[in-house]
Amino acid sequence: MTDTITIRRPDDWHVHLRDGAMLEAVAPFTAKQFGRAIIMPNLSPPVTSAASAAAYRDRIMAALPAGSGFTPLMTCYLTDDADADDIAAGHAAGIFTAAKLYPANATTNSAHGVTDVAHIMPVLERMQEIGMPLLVHGEVTDSDIDIFDREAVFIERVMKTLIGALPDLKVVFEHITTEQAVRFVDSCGPNVAATITPHHLHINRNAMFAGGIRPHAYCLPVAKREIHRLALRKAATSGSPKYFLGTDSAPHEIHAKESACGCAGIFNAPYALESYAAVFDEEGALDRLEGFASEHGPNFYGLSLNEDKVTLARSSAVIPENLAVADATLVPFHAGSELNWRIL
Ligand code: DOR
Ligand code: ZN
Repeated sequence: MTDTITIRRPDDWHVHLRDGAMLEAVAPFTAKQFGRAIIMPNLSPPVTSAASAAAYRDRIMAALPAGSGFTPLMTCYLTDDADADDIAAGHAAGIFTAAKLYPANATTNSAHGVTDVAHIMPVLERMQEIGMPLLVHGEVTDSDIDIFDREAVFIERVMKTLIGALPDLKVVFEHITTEQAVRFVDSCGPNVAATITPHHLHINRNAMFAGGIRPHAYCLPVAKREIHRLALRKAATSGSPKYFLGTDSAPHEIHAKESACGCAGIFNAPYALESYAAVFDEEGALDRLEGFASEHGPNFYGLSLNEDKVTLARSSAVIPENLAVADATLVPFHAGSELNWRIL
């Protein structure tokens, strides 16, 4: 049995670092584990211009512990009136790594999102031209579509048309949760990839209702049936370059989660790599962790691989019930349960 594993330092291709006091509280966790991360732009107000992304990047850098080598990779929040010239200029200037498509009202701070992809076709055409990746929150928002079907319906109604119209656009199907998404991504060319979160690899939808309502297991896209979790595990551990690490760590203060209308989001940053390692270990695929965590992402984005290394050791520890960081109390993913890997 392998008891330690050393891999290139991983990157997180999807994370919410927030702003202000919450940014100060959570940025050190991500910076400790990862070399780089794709920073989600769903602040309030959202990051829609190169100028606001550059300012946000400065605030992130200021929140990092002294001596941190972490690099935030910024994204542009697409709206119906997104400006192709500003986005292309921001990409050329090295401010924007990618742009994010939130269907309007799909999730936290997405009210300014895109109401119809047709409205942003000129922007997407420009992105295809300049090789700038589009990151997609893949859920329809129609109230007549069951919440557990929103991703599968999005594939049929939006993704297929989008990829058909822009066959060379680099697309990351973010935080996929269904076997339909795995089938779709597998069926596309190498310009279509997906991120997979640790929580969607660990839990199925029953986790939200285990003995009572469990707000800390609630995120969007919501966890699905067990068959879907198994399809995600298979995809993540397959060795396919189309799948890579994206935690979707999304902190909300404990009172905002434990509420009559609790926020969507799982805060997994503190033990993210350990959480993925447990999955790869359970699947007998530890030799594929490095590809998923540290190689497939940079290769897709056309970035260099990290040179430094991280070592994980098999060692069981109980994850704390909550973390008091700065003024916030946050409940981490796996709170109160054991994880069998730790970072040395
Ligand atoms: O669970 C989620 N939380 N999903 C998202 O898409 C957004 C995120 C957040 O920002 O809280
Ligand atoms: Zn997210």
